[in-house]
Amino acid sequence: MRTGPLESLEQWDDFVKDRYRTDRKEEEFRVFDESSPQVVKDFYRQNHALQTREFVQRKKREYTPLNKARMGVWEAMDKLQALVDDSDPDTDLSQMEHNLQTAEAVRQAGYPRWMILTGFIHDLGKVLCLFGEPQWAVVGDTFPTGCAWSDKIVFPAYFYDNADSGIAEYQTLYGAYAPQCGLDHVDMSWGHDEYLYWVVRDYLPEEALYIIRYHSFYAQHRERAYGHLMSAHDERMFDWVRRFNPFDLYSKSHERPQLATLKPFYEDLVSEFLPAQLRW
Ligand SMILES: [Fe+2]
Ligand SMILES: [Fe+2]
Repeated sequence: MRTGPLESLEQWDDFVKDRYRTDRKEEEFRVFDESSPQVVKDFYRQNHALQTREFVQRKKREYTPLNKARMGVWEAMDKLQALVDDSDPDTDLSQMEHNLQTAEAVRQAGYPRWMILTGFIHDLGKVLCLFGEPQWAVVGDTFPTGCAWSDKIVFPAYFYDNADSGIAEYQTLYGAYAPQCGLDHVDMSWGHDEYLYWVVRDYLPEEALYIIRYHSFYAQHRERAYGHLMSAHDERMFDWVRRFNPFDLYSKSHERPQLATLKPFYEDLVSEFLPAQLRW
């Protein structure tokens, strides 16, 4: 299923990984804008033009009542897998593999069980595709809407086409928000991060919820471009977002994780924290 320029949803994840390659030199950082694959540029052009504050608020009204579906974690994973495989015949198990590799890397580093679970489910919000959402409303770096866009966001020039550029209030540093108001009051661009946060918010510790909700907010967790909207509490919680990021980016291992062997562990882990059915 392709509802956008990317050949598959992974293409965005791969682009982010490449951007933050550990061997990338400082000078190379601004170059990716020009040399990136055309499909990635087309994707960000849509994402930046169409993620307005009004759009985000509309999606929150639509999705946060969680009345679209009822399914457990395993069913959601199967559905996501089916959808992704369909769009990209080469990926063979890539979603499940990424979930398992991230989670296993967290486990090997000795982190607590809630964080292993977070690794396992952090991308499940991509089931937004099931409900017909286009790529630009599912993946991509996330950023605050309703205030000036930082030039630390990838491809900042593409915001030129966003309707919010015509709203003077939104073009100021704080925009619709108060200084240090806390991210919970900020309308972040809509996608798999924000969505999954709403689905699991009653069940997981706050640190896990921060990781899930802000793992694609590179402009803050990498670039620290939005400190003016962060509360002191956000700043503390972002330590966890930063701790998690390398597991998301760099956990690809040579051996493929074997779901058959690992499944009992993850079944226990999922049922320790989450009900058999979640509302989506
Ligand atoms: Fe993600
Ligand atoms: Fe991920």
